[in-house]
Amino acid sequence: MMGVRKILLLVVVVLALQEAGARRSDRHRPARPCRPPRHDSYPFCNASLPAPARAAALLSLLSLPEKILQLSNNASAVPRLGLPAYQWWSESLHGVASNGPGVSFRGPVPAATAFPQVLLAAASFNRSLWRSLAAAVAAEARAMYNVGQAGLTFWAPNINVFRDPRWGRGQETPGEDPAVAAAYAAEYVKGFQGEGGRMLSACCKHFSAYDLEKWENFSRYTFNAQVTEQDMADTFQPPFRSCIEEGQATCLMCSYNQINGVPACARRDLLQKARDEWGFKGYITSDCDAVAIIHEDQKYAPSDGDAIADVLKAGMDINCGTYLLRHTASAVKEGKVLEEDIDRALLNLFSVQLRLGLFDGPLSEQEFGHYGPGDVCTPEHRELALEAARQGIVLLKNDEGFLPLRKSKVASLAIIGPAANDTSILGGDYTGVPCNPKSFFEGLKPYAPSTSFAAGCLDVPCQTEDGFEEAISVAREAEFVIVVAGLNLTEETEDLDRVSLLLPGKQMDLVNAIAAESKKPLILVLMGGGPLDVSIAIEDPRIATILWIGYPGEVGGQVLAEAIFGEFNPGGRLPVTWYPESFTSVPMNDMNMRADPSRGYPGRTYRFYTGPVVFGFGYGLSYSTYSYKFLSTPEKISLSGSSEAVINRHPAYTRTDGLDYIQVDKISSCEALKFYSRVSVLNNGDMDGSHVVLLYSRSVSSMKGSPKKQLIGFERVHTTAHAAAEVEIVVDPCRHLSTANEQGEMILPLGAHVLMLEKLEHVLTIER
Ligand SMILES: *[C@@H]1O[C@H](CO)[C@@H](O)[C@H](O)[C@H]1NC(C)=O
Ligand SMILES: *[C@@H]1O[C@H](CO)[C@@H](O)[C@H](O)[C@H]1NC(C)=O
Ligand SMILES: *[C@@H]1O[C@H](CO)[C@@H](O)[C@H](O)[C@H]1NC(C)=O
Ligand SMILES: *[C@@H]1O[C@H](CO)[C@@H](O)[C@H](O)[C@H]1NC(C)=O
Ligand SMILES: *[C@@H]1O[C@H](CO)[C@@H](O)[C@H](O)[C@H]1NC(C)=O
Ligand SMILES: *[C@@H]1O[C@H](CO)[C@@H](O)[C@H](O)[C@H]1NC(C)=O
Repeated sequence: MMGVRKILLLVVVVLALQEAGARRSDRHRPARPCRPPRHDSYPFCNASLPAPARAAALLSLLSLPEKILQLSNNASAVPRLGLPAYQWWSESLHGVASNGPGVSFRGPVPAATAFPQVLLAAASFNRSLWRSLAAAVAAEARAMYNVGQAGLTFWAPNINVFRDPRWGRGQETPGEDPAVAAAYAAEYVKGFQGEGGRMLSACCKHFSAYDLEKWENFSRYTFNAQVTEQDMADTFQPPFRSCIEEGQATCLMCSYNQINGVPACARRDLLQKARDEWGFKGYITSDCDAVAIIHEDQKYAPSDGDAIADVLKAGMDINCGTYLLRHTASAVKEGKVLEEDIDRALLNLFSVQLRLGLFDGPLSEQEFGHYGPGDVCTPEHRELALEAARQGIVLLKNDEGFLPLRKSKVASLAIIGPAANDTSILGGDYTGVPCNPKSFFEGLKPYAPSTSFAAGCLDVPCQTEDGFEEAISVAREAEFVIVVAGLNLTEETEDLDRVSLLLPGKQMDLVNAIAAESKKPLILVLMGGGPLDVSIAIEDPRIATILWIGYPGEVGGQVLAEAIFGEFNPGGRLPVTWYPESFTSVPMNDMNMRADPSRGYPGRTYRFYTGPVVFGFGYGLSYSTYSYKFLSTPEKISLSGSSEAVINRHPAYTRTDGLDYIQVDKISSCEALKFYSRVSVLNNGDMDGSHVVLLYSRSVSSMKGSPKKQLIGFERVHTTAHAAAEVEIVVDPCRHLSTANEQGEMILPLGAHVLMLEKLEHVLTIER
């Protein structure tokens, strides 16, 4: 029989153990507001009240100093109300990433799937893949939130148009075409945020006209992007519009740069347009320290208080950084900022938190509370990462069907290159801790009785020839040689643009040295985001094959081997133009998309660029060849002939030069003008393949600044060897056949539009 004291002692010990256990497991739970018994009775905790009422109720309980402490990504706790601190900044570009302070890989989730970098996934031109990828990242992100290792608000996708091939962050984007970027943005956000934006929050960044890190005297922190209304309307804005209108993103990030003399975060017109015209319902964050620089670096605002007044009055809600924490109180005292400016911002912030269920009780009662460590690094996500890399990889050259190799016929392989046995290079930027990365060398081993590796260069910058000799002797011994060349974050990343489009350092010398000594022509694999001028390798018969693999993520090693051995048929297409080295004489700070022959300016991207290319946008071979037929596509559409009056006001405008056009916003029903283009794709090869159909159009009108051609639809389709498949592409003339005029209005030229499938053309006439 136990004595009373012993029992008491036992109870105390048990209680203490329970307490310690609770604390231990609390460390792996997100801190929670509205915790009973003391903090669950506030009206903002009452889930049966409408969200705006709850947000207003919370706001009404806060003092001014408490409100100011909410204006940072590191939002402070309000202990008297039981409100925990909240970190708004987590990152999830192509997998949960460690770049933001909201994410930690210390805890029950030590790693997360590193999916391929965005530009490679973009090369798949597969909308459902993009959506699945975002949903998989979201499952891992939500699981990490549920164990206290991430926030609920993530700052992806990056949907700035990849305008200049030197841009260090082009790798993070879906490429140079605004329509592709717009489609990617919508899919990412829908996949990531979940139904009704209740699972997580995605952020459309960086708004707007941001795509320069550092070039000559220009830096992203002070750059004044001079953008025409025309380029703004049909290049820089469409991805953001889609991200918000179609994707319903709940966050928008304003960028560092100025746009025509006004800092992006102070562009009230642009920020309000997102809310008023695109229906944005969410919070606007600054990029990190983007408010401080408005005063300190750009000297746009004469004082700290003015900088804060500029952004809060423009519609920004939260500042990444501590600047508003430090200077808002004095700005209020000076009368530059009103408490109601802060209240406006806080209502937006609380609304997003409310939508995400942050105040809605314990995880066990929450819609997404069941996600946990078992949802991270799953075999399904690994398979999806593989699938994305397979669908994205682009075959750029393949002399006389050199690839695929036959596994049973290869006696030995050598793989050469500084990145070939390095797993840290696979993810590109914004990568977290991968689950189980495999290098290219590792991936190839199972495919030949003997596989050898030599780095050739010490690292990607490859400043010396140290290592060449060893690499040459390794290459000489092998039957087939693969050289992995290209880029790494040492060449292109945040705050680092390239100055050359050639292979870094002595990499091309290494390729040549190996090509001269290897038994058979080489297989050249190019890594990286930015385009590379490899013209020499394209012409060189000693290089049989060129493959672009972007930053393939943790499964890169396996996918390269599968591609080389024909376990799938490559079908990716370049999402960005590959320019020659001579393009580096174009000033990077020149934001004009349109060419200007009078000053020797060649323009940018396939829509406007008039100079020579190494590979064009959309280029990509396969182990099959394909041919097309237009099956059914109208030859005529009429603006007025359809059952209802399509045109509500002025029928059309005729210019003095006889060119007819109509302003898109004068068309009352774009829906009525939509049509299908049905296309047949014949796979002429011996191998099944998934193939991307790119439908372009050009207007025959000579309107100033109209694109040479523009992508009006894309669809990825499965084909079987020697068989035809059909695809249906919806064309919305208002969106797809229009272009911006110099005033930034979208106009639809009447008359002939030529639809193009590679060399095949179909004329469509738009009549009044
Ligand atoms: C929550 O709000 C509803 C609707 O106003 C009200 O009926 C209910 O009493 C509130 N619950 C609590 C606990 O205050
Ligand atoms: C976040 O803010 C709190 C005060 O609310 C401070 O103690 C903490 O150091 C801050 N964390 C970071 C990463 O700045
Ligand atoms: C950069 O600044 C230097 C010194 O002010 C000037 O000579 C040069 O022309 C500038 N370069 C560009 C591209 O503006
Ligand atoms: C390849 O990399 C792995 C992991 O870093 C290392 O253990 C191995 O020695 C390397 N192989 C060669 C041949 O350098
Ligand atoms: C690639 O870049 C990373 C980050 O700068 C660096 O740590 C790594 O060593 C580089 N790898 C190679 C092969 O150069
Ligand atoms: C597009 O991607 C999805 C998701 O990975 C895949 O199931 C589908 O087969 C792909 N479509 C084609 C035509 O490759």
